[in-house]
Amino acid sequence: MLPDLTAQDGVLRKLILYYFQGVLNFVLKVEEIAELTWNLQQCFIEATVLNPLLLKYPINKNFSRLYLKKLIDYLEPHQEVHDELYAELCNLMDNNSKEDLYYYRHYVVNNDISNVISIRETNKMVVNGTTGMRTWEAGVMIADWAICNKELFKKKKVLELGSGVGLTGIAITKFCCIEEYIFTDCHSEVLNTLAYNVSINFPNTKSKEKDGMTMFNLRNKICKIGVMPLDWNDEDLPGLAPDIIIGADVVYDPCIIKPLCNVIQTFLNRNNNLEVYFATIIRIEETFKQFLLSLDERGLKYDILQQEHNVHFAWDANIERCLLKVY
Ligand SMILES: C[S@@+](CC[C@H](N)C(=O)[O-])C[C@H]1O[C@@H](n2cnc3c(N)ncnc32)[C@H](O)[C@@H]1O
Repeated sequence: MLPDLTAQDGVLRKLILYYFQGVLNFVLKVEEIAELTWNLQQCFIEATVLNPLLLKYPINKNFSRLYLKKLIDYLEPHQEVHDELYAELCNLMDNNSKEDLYYYRHYVVNNDISNVISIRETNKMVVNGTTGMRTWEAGVMIADWAICNKELFKKKKVLELGSGVGLTGIAITKFCCIEEYIFTDCHSEVLNTLAYNVSINFPNTKSKEKDGMTMFNLRNKICKIGVMPLDWNDEDLPGLAPDIIIGADVVYDPCIIKPLCNVIQTFLNRNNNLEVYFATIIRIEETFKQFLLSLDERGLKYDILQQEHNVHFAWDANIERCLLKVY
């Protein structure tokens, strides 16, 4: 689904946003193509292929090649096509033989390309035995919801389970005035990429290793960020007592339901007021039902939350999903 751009958005803004957001199924009307003169094409090139952020943290080359090819195909019958568009396309075609496993995605906040979260990730579902090396739709969805409900997070200690490459937590840390955010996962490559993604999105941050955790101290903010291993199957969970637990797309496998519920129960036992928020994509209805049943059996209450879509981030609202508060 295309992000919801309002009618007054010019074609230039629309094309730049789609390039950032990895949207390829765009359509240009004849009158929009007429607007795309050499000068406007120059602006597009500067905001995208020559953008310093994208030069430092390059997007998926295959996407970029297909996008520029499509744009040139639209322009050629009606406009003089900018040399740099051809040059960039040729460059990408030369490099086309080898597709990168990892690249950067730039998640645009509030449709403003000067306000992005850059994440190093893959587009593969599973890499080295983990689903954690990419951002899943539930992660974007709960980040959007959290920013819409930032008062819930103010001065709170947040623990995230199965953080993956970190989009959700980076968004909450940037926009929700929390006191502490601890990212966790069980996979070492995921944890390394996660710590790297935290470091590039908080560039003025110093990190140090302490008690098995990578700690980041933000200079301008009174907020602590940590990245640490936490496996839901572990007997001994870290001695943290969060106010809020977040989990995005962690309910996807029947085998993890019991350990995941054990983790929630342990932290609830430490703090009666703990609030747990899960964003789930319902791929297999039965697995999700089993999870709800397991919460019931433990006497845990839950509410299904409603959410507006595509408020701060673009995500696909057509997929079957659920946002749950457990307490
Ligand atoms: C589908 S990914 C979701 C990643 C991220 N939350 C998102 O929405 O983009 C599931 C994540 O759970 C992690 N995970 C799976 N089993 C786990 C376990 N037993 N303990 C801790 N994390 C686990 C995976 O490593 C992966 O990062």
